[in-house]
Amino acid sequence: MGVFYGKLEQNPERMMINVGVVFGGQSPEHEVSVISSIQAASAMDKSKFNAVPIYIAKSGIWYTGDDLFDITLFKDVDSLLQKASIVRLVPTGSRRLRLQRVDSAGLFGEQTSEFELDILFLGLHGGSGENGGIQGLCEVLNVPYTGSGVMSSSLAMDKVRSKDLCREHGIPVINYVALREKSWAGSEDQTTHELSSRLGLPVVVKPVSLGSSIGISMVNTETELQEAIEEAFRYDETVIVEHAVGNLREINCSVLGDEDHCIASILEEPVSDAALLSYEEKYMQGRSAGSKSGPRSGKSGGSDGMASLGRMIPAPLSEELTESISKLATDIFSILGCAGVARIDFLMNDRTGAVYFNEINTIPGSFSFYLWEPVDIPFDQLVDRLIEIGFERHRERTDRVRSYDVNLLAEHSARGLKGAKQ
Ligand SMILES: Nc1ncnc2c1ncn2[C@@H]1O[C@H](COP(=O)(O)OP(=O)(O)O)[C@@H](O)[C@H]1O
Ligand SMILES: [Mg+2]
Repeated sequence: MGVFYGKLEQNPERMMINVGVVFGGQSPEHEVSVISSIQAASAMDKSKFNAVPIYIAKSGIWYTGDDLFDITLFKDVDSLLQKASIVRLVPTGSRRLRLQRVDSAGLFGEQTSEFELDILFLGLHGGSGENGGIQGLCEVLNVPYTGSGVMSSSLAMDKVRSKDLCREHGIPVINYVALREKSWAGSEDQTTHELSSRLGLPVVVKPVSLGSSIGISMVNTETELQEAIEEAFRYDETVIVEHAVGNLREINCSVLGDEDHCIASILEEPVSDAALLSYEEKYMQGRSAGSKSGPRSGKSGGSDGMASLGRMIPAPLSEELTESISKLATDIFSILGCAGVARIDFLMNDRTGAVYFNEINTIPGSFSFYLWEPVDIPFDQLVDRLIEIGFERHRERTDRVRSYDVNLLAEHSARGLKGAKQ
């Protein structure tokens, strides 16, 4: 198996591409990542791709083994992991990632074997799987990976910095204030009062870099505001306080491509009875399917992940509004320098028609496949495109000069170390 490089369709020897699907991770969205990634792995074209599970357990240990693509076995993770093999990284600097598979063989102790991957398909959600952390590791290892790069991933994960940058580029955002824990401590009453008069109640309080509605509250009074800020600081050292959009409708749009060329999907409108979509509503609706109202996409059941959320597709909006939201979505994707697939979420005041950028997910639940199917990009093609973009971006990165063939240290030692600090 050689290194595959270039357009997927033009692969002359029809070599299989070894795709490491990385999922799980130490994040509150661990289970969602398992669902999204197993969905993506099973959508991969088996004549082109050999999908290899790389599961990061909640402990942080990496595992591989075919059973890890069987969602039903995740009911009993301990037994699943007993049969799986531990994986260790073997940095080689080459374009393929070498991994060591460690099997404990009873009395005979540890048995190891090595294998190589051509690309990592990143299916982690939240934390260092989505904030540039694992993307940085891939770059250090010089291995191609899918999705946004280090900087875009970190910017997108930060609800303040992504809004700051978008606002700078003329994208509408609701009024917000960022609050650092150190400046909050000791001036709680005064800050609460200033925030409420500056933004106007009700406001929404969120930790800046979490997802899944964790630590988020909407408040109507200053007392509640103070409590909500304290609560959000349990999760993050920066919180964002935003004016609450009234007559709220939420509209999401997925974008596919890279900074220079990207397209928008169909729009969706998630449907909820509550003021804030909770973690349970986002991900666990399949378990209490009868209890929620609202139109559905026809999908349901616990393993559908984001696809099982109550939603209207397409979002019932005028053609004009649909077009302007799609345009905002592709602009935001480019401003943040994203790649692969992302989902951009908007808040809309239904009475005034004002639309605000709320947040961007660079590894969206279920890779937003349900927003691409209606526009004739089935899941297998979406996955194909993500892999293709991953290879293209790696080639662009590695085509640039990365090192100089001069050994400064050798020159220094020839002249002695005196000049070392100059
Ligand atoms: N400024 C706001 N006004 C009204 N509702 C909001 C506002 N910000 C967030 N929400 C509600 O809270 C939910 C979660 O907030 P969001 O910013 O999307 O965080 P998360 O990353 O946890 O999804 C949104 O889906 C929306 O229902
Ligand atoms: Mg959200």
